[in-house]
Amino acid sequence: MNVAVFVSGRGSNLKAVLTDESLHGLIEVKAVFSNKENCPAFKIADEFLIQTFSIGNAHATISYDEVYQLLLDKQVELIVLAGYLKLIPSKIVNSANWKIINIHPALLPSFGGKGMYGMNVHNAVFNSSAKISGATVHFVDSTYDTGKIIAQRCVDISDIKSPEEIAVRVLEIEHELLPYVIKKIAEKKVRFSGTRIFVDE
Ligand code: GRF
Repeated sequence: MNVAVFVSGRGSNLKAVLTDESLHGLIEVKAVFSNKENCPAFKIADEFLIQTFSIGNAHATISYDEVYQLLLDKQVELIVLAGYLKLIPSKIVNSANWKIINIHPALLPSFGGKGMYGMNVHNAVFNSSAKISGATVHFVDSTYDTGKIIAQRCVDISDIKSPEEIAVRVLEIEHELLPYVIKKIAEKKVRFSGTRIFVDE
């Protein structure tokens, strides 16, 4: 299965996908896109000899229309948003050519939506005094964090003393959950039934 990954930050989830042995031979990451010109995650893509593209900023190297065409040319079947901070244009979201998933560092539908990214999420979870947090992988629609949930994993945070500690614990499970979901999609084990999504063993 051909995959494209969209990133805005350091790219630890990208790395988790690229190094997960259970995905070897099952997926190929064809391109990494970022809204940032010198995105730190590009270094990881470079290490794995994967083409990188910077989209739509002041010194744009590529437009979303060109991204769309590239995705078609590379026969991408799955787009993975791994810490991508922008909304994806509806032309790409609504295309039947591929599926799009996102990883969110909390248990949706709580602690999601516009502006809820990075430490904003963990600060909100910390201030709510929630005792569990976790990671969610969901399909992407045209608004932030509202698509159907594919899989979630939770982590006990009843003893944590800071939002930073929550971030560390959640990131660890993100790195397991994202490759797991990608594998299930590649194996065609993610299916819709009525309004719900099931992941077969
Ligand atoms: C992750 O916490 C992801 O869930 C969120 O942004 C962060 C990206 O981290 N959407 P990284 O760039 O993968 O290290």
